[in-house]
Amino acid sequence: MRRPQPENIYLPKVAVLDGVQDEIQDVKTFYWHFEEPADQEAFKSFMPGQFAQVSLFGVGEFPLSLPPSPTESKVFFTVRKVGTATAAMHELRPGDKFAVRGPYGNGFPMKDYHGQNLIFVAGGIGLIPLRSCIVYALDHREKYGQIKIFYGARTPRDFMYVELLRQWERSQGFECYLTVDRADESWRGHSGVVGSLFKKPGVELPVENTTVFVCGPPVMFRFVLQDLKGLGFQDNQMVSTMERYMKCGVGKCGHCCIGVAYVCTDGPVFTLEQIKKLGEEI
Ligand SMILES: Cc1cc2nc3c(=O)[nH]c(=O)nc-3n(C[C@H](O)[C@H](O)[C@H](O)COP(=O)(O)OP(=O)(O)OC[C@H]3O[C@@H](n4cnc5c(N)ncnc54)[C@H](O)[C@@H]3O)c2cc1C
Ligand code: FES
Repeated sequence: MRRPQPENIYLPKVAVLDGVQDEIQDVKTFYWHFEEPADQEAFKSFMPGQFAQVSLFGVGEFPLSLPPSPTESKVFFTVRKVGTATAAMHELRPGDKFAVRGPYGNGFPMKDYHGQNLIFVAGGIGLIPLRSCIVYALDHREKYGQIKIFYGARTPRDFMYVELLRQWERSQGFECYLTVDRADESWRGHSGVVGSLFKKPGVELPVENTTVFVCGPPVMFRFVLQDLKGLGFQDNQMVSTMERYMKCGVGKCGHCCIGVAYVCTDGPVFTLEQIKKLGEEI
């Protein structure tokens, strides 16, 4: 009698592309589903902040965040074209197949934040990993205190998820502030770096019982942390996601090590306190 074989943890499941949406220059969102309904069902239990390993046949495998919230019905990736694999992904057309394994990583512990105020600060494509967390929090609005979103883009044309931003701006029960580094004639809103929104008249940031989520390019990250420190936030109140080169995604190969941590299994979500303890330069 043959013994049952343990599932191969490196074996990806086949996915089919449903549609592609342009976000901003070199960034597209890819809607997809698993070919096998059982794989789709198994994937539903992901947490905001987790990621997946995506393979393009004959090209390679690479990590991508999961921008949808598990409360949404569609799954999708948002991908910036930076090199070989991401450029190949940008060439996919509806009906094309690729492969996915995951979800992996720790994700944001959304239940630990129950009863707290949540402040989200994103710059540019830093909204990709935060999108899931924001939508999840808004879909469980009664579980959290104040919710405030601060999002900065270089120009008005560089905002991601534009439809969702419009909804957030119109909705009641939380605050959404947008800014651009460089305004054009179409822009009627705030101009300046994202941290300048904290000083906007009428904006108040509750420090007590608050977690702040910060994702964006390194320079934005550094300045926002300084601003938040100046307002009285502590390192253990600030969380972010870290990006590292990954291979296995499941804590076996060591490619993603920082100090004693594996970003793929201990992260990618870390508090600023943890990031500093790992010896990362901010
Ligand atoms: C946990 C995690 C989540 C991610 N989520 C997303 C996402 O949602 N959307 C998205 O567009 N990208 C995301 N990335 C980054 C993405 O994995 C890389 O851009 C991708 O692997 C690049 O592959 P490539 O073959 O196109 O580029 P390559 O040809 O391998 O490299 C092109 C350039 O990109 C740089 N680069 C490659 N990989 C990384 C990396 N991991 N971090 C920083 N620089 C890199 C290289 O140094 C080089 O300059 C994530 C990375 C991690 C670790
Ligand atoms: S990617 Fe292999 S250990 Fe993290």
